[in-house]
Amino acid sequence: MQQTYIMIKPDGVQRGLIGEVISRIEKRGLKITAMKMHTLEKEIARSHYAEHESKGFFGSLIDFITSGPSVSMIIEGGNAVTVMRGINGATNPQEAAIGTIRGDFGLDTGRNIVHASDSVESAKREIAIHFKESDHSEYKRIDEQWLYE
Ligand code: RTP
Ligand code: MG
Repeated sequence: MQQTYIMIKPDGVQRGLIGEVISRIEKRGLKITAMKMHTLEKEIARSHYAEHESKGFFGSLIDFITSGPSVSMIIEGGNAVTVMRGINGATNPQEAAIGTIRGDFGLDTGRNIVHASDSVESAKREIAIHFKESDHSEYKRIDEQWLYE
């Protein structure tokens, strides 16, 4: 089992896509073990996207991601990091496959609705940025015995 960090970005919240995103995650069989809505502080956002600090889009990315409420989640399941990246689709929604969140609902790289950690190491780092240990809920979903062999 892996954990990964997911964010429904401010555009996803404003466009009424919270339920759509959560529904896709749940229906795939992935388990939500922490969830909150919050407007990110600039410092937290800079730390979250630290790998992009030197890029030209960093300033606008930080302004956008802190511009309104977003929804943060910890998602758990088999190969959750890769599976969640697949559910989200390619970074540029114009190139994202139909059937992915970005491919079905997005048109612009800077407004691509969702974030998911890109590795197990990134997931650990991002979960620690956005959640306290006491925010995590450990539980078994009743369908787990039918999801995994
Ligand atoms: P994310 O981190 O948000 O899940 O997206 P990602 O892994 O698919 O893409 P990444 O390369 O990590 O980029 C982070 C976010 O920065 C914005 N971006 N803008 N204008 C540009 O060329 C550009 N490139 C990236 C996107 O919002 C992207 O999700
Ligand atoms: Mg990324």
